[in-house]
Amino acid sequence: MNLIIINGPNLNLLGRREPDIYGNQSFEDFLEKLKAEFPGIAIDYFQSNIEGEIINKIHDAGFTKEAIVINPGGYSHTSVAIADAMKAVPAKVIEVHLSNVFAREEFRKTLITAPSADGFISGFGLDAYRLAILSLLLDSA
Ligand code: DQA
Repeated sequence: MNLIIINGPNLNLLGRREPDIYGNQSFEDFLEKLKAEFPGIAIDYFQSNIEGEIINKIHDAGFTKEAIVINPGGYSHTSVAIADAMKAVPAKVIEVHLSNVFAREEFRKTLITAPSADGFISGFGLDAYRLAILSLLLDSA
């Protein structure tokens, strides 16, 4: 299987950003471990703070990869354009969030992008990405 992880705005600061909510680990360190745990899966990674770049990457990867695991960050609550891109591509799309967005501020309970995903995982920290990959493996078994 091949997939791409797409992280949206501010997720480049993981490990340094609000560690009480998002933990102490950088995504780069976590990604190394993830790749070692799933040696049979080709895992690409893309992060951007820019909405249009995320959309372009969904367009590229969505027709060439089997799956997209996406954390749209704050755009999850605002971006019709990312939601449309997620719907437009044939790849399976799993949306993940480190925090439980339903246990936080009211504005985080509005999810614009999640209805465009095939599945949604929220509240398990970085394990959300592991769980997303496991769900894809179960699906393809
Ligand atoms: C987040 C949750 C969003 O509400 C927030 O804007 C983020 C991170 C998460 O992974 O928990 O940037 O997507």
